Amino acid sequence: MIEIRGLFKKFGDLAAVKDLDLTVKPGEIFGFLGPNGAGKTTTVKLITGLLKPTAGTITVCGFDIASQALAAKRLIGLVPDEPFVYPKLTGAEYLRFIGELYGVALDAQKKRIPELLEMFELSDWSGELVESYSHGMRQKLVLCGILLHEPKVLVLDEPMVGLDPKSGRMAKEILLTLKKRGTCIFMCTHILEIAEKLCDRIGIMIRGELVALGTLEELRSKSQNGSSGLEDVFLSLTGGQEYAGLLKHL
Ligand SMILES: Nc1ncnc2c1ncn2[C@@H]1O[C@H](COP(=O)(O)OP(=O)(O)OP(=O)(O)O)[C@@H](O)[C@H]1O
Ligand SMILES: [Mg+2]
Repeated sequence: MIEIRGLFKKFGDLAAVKDLDLTVKPGEIFGFLGPNGAGKTTTVKLITGLLKPTAGTITVCGFDIASQALAAKRLIGLVPDEPFVYPKLTGAEYLRFIGELYGVALDAQKKRIPELLEMFELSDWSGELVESYSHGMRQKLVLCGILLHEPKVLVLDEPMVGLDPKSGRMAKEILLTLKKRGTCIFMCTHILEIAEKLCDRIGIMIRGELVALGTLEELRSKSQNGSSGLEDVFLSLTGGQEYAGLLKHL
């Protein structure tokens, strides 16, 4: 569903993504982890066609994101790290806009939009301009939009940030339901508990390089001290255990 081959992205002299090869399958939740500045959001932008690679190819459901951009983008849903929604649209208007953009039939839009707004407790806000929404409310509206057009490939960048505990739990259930329906899910997260609970496979990137890839079990066996939890595995693979030295100025 997502096929990444030999992907490079340079910003000037900085190589943000270095020779990335990765395949994510239908019905799989892939967790993309790594320290701040590792290149995760850059990869998300490359997969969704928001950035052009310096080298390499990406196909989404067989469509090349560079040469068949429209066909590929029709199949992709993106939850970006900052939930951008046009501020001068109301919540309901945004969802109509998404419905039209992705070709959702009008009857289905009329039925689904109120249902989705109700599900995320946004019904009372549906006629208000998005500029008056909190960060979490915008995030929930973006999730409503995803559920409205049900993309074959879902790319999420820190989707749980800003969600209250109930909405966070709902978002997890939604991801598991979409996975069961065969959606291919690529998710960046710093919340290791989420990666541990939801992801079928995990990739860890450091300074643009994929340094670990596999199931939690496989990563555990690779970490130096046979650590059990993903936090220990992550810190061991990323050298994060050296943080004590960084605290000397505290
Ligand atoms: N438009 C840009 N111009 C120049 N450098 C950039 C640009 N976008 C990202 N970078 C650099 O690329 C590197 C990777 O950034 P990226 O946003 O992909 O990291 P990340 O893994 O998503 O980090 P975080 O966990 O903080 O979200 C960083 O060094 C960043 O400064
Ligand atoms: Mg990021």
